[in-house]
This record gives sequence, C-alpha cells and structure tokens, in this order.
Amino acid sequence: MKFPNRILSGIQPTGVPHLGNYFGAIRNWVELQDCSTSKIIVSIVDLHAITVPQDPYMLQQNTVEMAQSLLACGIKDDQILFRQSTIPQHSQLAWILFCKTPVGWVNRLHQWKTKSEGLDGHLGLLSYPVLQAADILLYRATQIPVGEDQAQHMNLTTMIAKSFNSHYKTEMFPIPRALYCKSKLILASTASKRLMSLKDPTKKMSKSDPNANSRIMINDAESEIQKKIRKATTDSIQGITYDPINRPGVSNLINIIRSIRNVDVQTEFAHLSNKEFKDRVADELVAYLGPIRQKWVELQRESQYIEQVLARGEQEARQIAESTLKDVHRCIGLP
Ligand code: TYM
Repeated sequence: MKFPNRILSGIQPTGVPHLGNYFGAIRNWVELQDCSTSKIIVSIVDLHAITVPQDPYMLQQNTVEMAQSLLACGIKDDQILFRQSTIPQHSQLAWILFCKTPVGWVNRLHQWKTKSEGLDGHLGLLSYPVLQAADILLYRATQIPVGEDQAQHMNLTTMIAKSFNSHYKTEMFPIPRALYCKSKLILASTASKRLMSLKDPTKKMSKSDPNANSRIMINDAESEIQKKIRKATTDSIQGITYDPINRPGVSNLINIIRSIRNVDVQTEFAHLSNKEFKDRVADELVAYLGPIRQKWVELQRESQYIEQVLARGEQEARQIAESTLKDVHRCIGLP
C-alpha cells in the first residue's frame, strides 16, 4: 500500500528551546512545512516529560511556552500543533505496542540507561521509546525530522512497525523514515552532528544541564548571548581551526556559525584570536536570533491565541488518531 507523505515530529515541553533543538530539529520543521503538500504534525510530548520528575505548575507553563516558542521560530499556526496528552489514543496505542515489543529491544537503548542513573528507573522511563513509536505510528507518519540523537528511537519505531505488520500480515503502518537535519552542521563531520554544550563540548547541549551558561536559548537577549559565548570553554591553542577531536570547544563554535551559513574556516577565522572569534560568533548569533526573539516577545501577550492554535491542532490530530486506533483495534480483535 502507498501511504501519503506525512511529516511528524515531537518535542518535550521544556519551555524555551535551546540552539540544539532549533538547529537540530525545529528549523527543519519550519523549512519542511513550506514544501509539504499536507500539514506537518508537531506534538508537544508532555506524557514523555513525566518520565522524569516534574513540578505540575511548571509543566503546564513550559508546555505553553514551548508552543509560543515554536510559533516564534516560524511554525505556522495552520499546521497541526498540539499537546500529546490531550489525545488519549497515544497512550492507548502505546499499550498495544508494549504488548508487542520484546523487553530486550528497549533494554539496550542507551538513553534509558543514562536517564535512569540516580533515579529509581521506573517503567515509564523504560517504556519511553515505545510511546514515541506510538506517537509516530498513530498518525501513519512517513517522514520524521529529528536530531541525530534520536536515531536509536527511530530504529526501534521501525522494528515495531515492521513486526506489527508482519505478525498481523497487514500494512497497518508505513515504515517511517527519519530525516536527520541536513544543515551544513551535519556535512561538516560525523563528529559534529549535534550541537554540544558550551561548557563541556564533549556532551550535547541540553536543557537538563544545571549550568544555564552551557546553552543558548532561542529568546536570549544580546547581552546573554555575548556573555555565554565569551564564557564558552575553548583552549589555549593559537588561531582558529576545525578539529572536533582535539579542539571540541572551538569546533562547536564553528558549528554554530556553520548552522547559520556556509563558512570557510581557513580564510575567515584562522587568523583570529579566541576572543575575536568568540565576538564574531556572538555577533552572528545575535543577528540571526533577533527576529525570533522579537516574535517571541510579541507572542508573550497572546496566550489566548496560543491556546486557540493548540485547540485547533488537537481537533485535527484527534481525527487522524481515532481513525488509526479504530483500524488497529479491528486488526487485533478488540471492539
Ligand atoms: P527532545 O525534546 O529532546 O528534542 C527535540 C528535538 O531536538 C533535537 N535536539 C538536538 N539536535 C542537535 N543537537 C542537540 N544538542 C539537540 N538536542 C535536542 C532532538 O533530536 C529532537 O529532534 N524523544 C524526543 C521527543 C519525541 C519525538 C516523538 C520526536 C517524542 N515523540 C515522535 C519525534 C517523533 C525528544 O526527547 O526530543
């Protein structure tokens, strides 16, 4: 069966996204929505968020702030943007998929191991990737634009879809294809597929890092961007060169510029001191993020509009979700 193209992705409700989320995923969604013939689906995955401890008030706030941020980044309000937990079919399909997924398939995923360190690894955390598969398969999505850190989850989704189809001798689900960000960032080197922390460039840039100077947020003011870049960990080697293994800090900063535009490191930066180079990175980022920040500030006063966008997205998502779950129930013998 030929499934129509459908682009879907998800993001955790972490409030304002950081540069890694933006260059790794969100910018891609914005570009894809313009060339897609059908609406793109973006789920703010609040059910995934509760796999780690959350303050109820903050979770609610951060969810709305993520919607605000996605609109500020350029996701159009006529696409399907919604909160995962408002569509119960995500959990319902996840349950069905739990019953079809061998524990061994999820046990070997490294994110589960890393995240459960220091926590009482509970079933929610272990099941996280199966819920992600449900998010995707519920909409029979064909293309999933994500950052490369989601590769293991995407492989698992493929395995689950194939095994369901073959077990029931059906073509219930298309086999989704991950679209990893095609930015210059990726072309640069396999060692630089992710934006890394500004403080420890061997770790990915992440919202869970306790040090706020480790990441740039898409709504950071000029002075914050300058401060964070100035404090970014680099090295004492003279001149600027791209060498992700021996100079991860400098290379990460080059990658930040590379995700904005093509650069020729040799002619543009080689002669600069670390300080001059950092000033250049900060200037480029300030100019690039300026319009996004401005839109973000405008939307700050538009909470009713944001709720409307989410409510409409929810309605459209529900129609697709109900129809798929009905088919799945019929297929496996449930009413
Ligand atoms: P999340 O919320 O951690 O990240 C959202 C998107 O941002 C990308 N990303 C990065 N890319 C490059 N460098 C980084 N430092 C960086 N940090 C984050 C991620 O790859 C992701 O695309 N499990 C998912 C959410 C999810 C989902 C889904 C995604 C739930 N269901 C269904 C796609 C389809 C997650 O935690 O993303």
